[in-house]
Amino acid sequence: MQIPEFKPTEFFGVYTDDKNYYTQSLTKRGSVYGEKTYRLPGGIMYRQWDPYRSKLGASLHNGIKYWPFSKDTKVLYLGAASGTTTSHISDICKEGYIFAIEISPRPFVELLRLSSKRPNIFPILADARKITEYLHIVPQVDVVYQDIAQRDQAEIFHKNVNVFLKKGGYGIIMVKARSIDVVKDPEDIFDEVEDYLRDQGYKILQRLKLEPYEKDHAAIIIQK
Ligand SMILES: C[S@@+](CC[C@H](N)C(=O)[O-])C[C@H]1O[C@@H](n2cnc3c(N)ncnc32)[C@H](O)[C@@H]1O
Repeated sequence: MQIPEFKPTEFFGVYTDDKNYYTQSLTKRGSVYGEKTYRLPGGIMYRQWDPYRSKLGASLHNGIKYWPFSKDTKVLYLGAASGTTTSHISDICKEGYIFAIEISPRPFVELLRLSSKRPNIFPILADARKITEYLHIVPQVDVVYQDIAQRDQAEIFHKNVNVFLKKGGYGIIMVKARSIDVVKDPEDIFDEVEDYLRDQGYKILQRLKLEPYEKDHAAIIIQK
């Protein structure tokens, strides 16, 4: 098997071979969600970041300008599912923490399994609308990341950013227009979400469409 030449990128903890993006695996075990892996002589393993499976991966391909992740970043992740994107953030923020909230027990079982091999992931089975369920566990964080396809996703995001995000910290919300309104033009919905977040006092830093990886989705990046 030909091993690509992995070069660091401007995004901390992310590598490229000029075609795909990769993270250096925190653990010696192989693939998390079926992604390609490459083990170098010496033991370092690179995991390919699939933009069709991870919206943060898609954001790398589509020109994200703000990358709030570093070695020891504390992240609150809302809607972690089985941990596809969480696993890459866990590779990047090796000495940080990811508090991973998921409401559905089925993917949560997989998330638990993942966290048993990755000490920087704290899985929490909870509804991200009910922050009192994890208020006693989650500290002030550097980043709030949300990928929840719900009609009230902007309100859920605000609720969490308001309580858990440090002043000056960054928030990334993956907006699924069709979950908010199936008939409205997605651009109008992205405008409405931005207006709502601006009204809460956050600075809108970037809006990034996720096509062709995700239809009618945008990543909106804010600063508190
Ligand atoms: C699109 S999937 C997330 C995929 C994941 N972020 C990734 O990239 O690996 C959305 C997840 O949000 C979860 N979810 C929906 N409503 C939620 C809520 N109120 N609180 C917490 N999780 C929720 C769903 O159960 C689902 O697993």
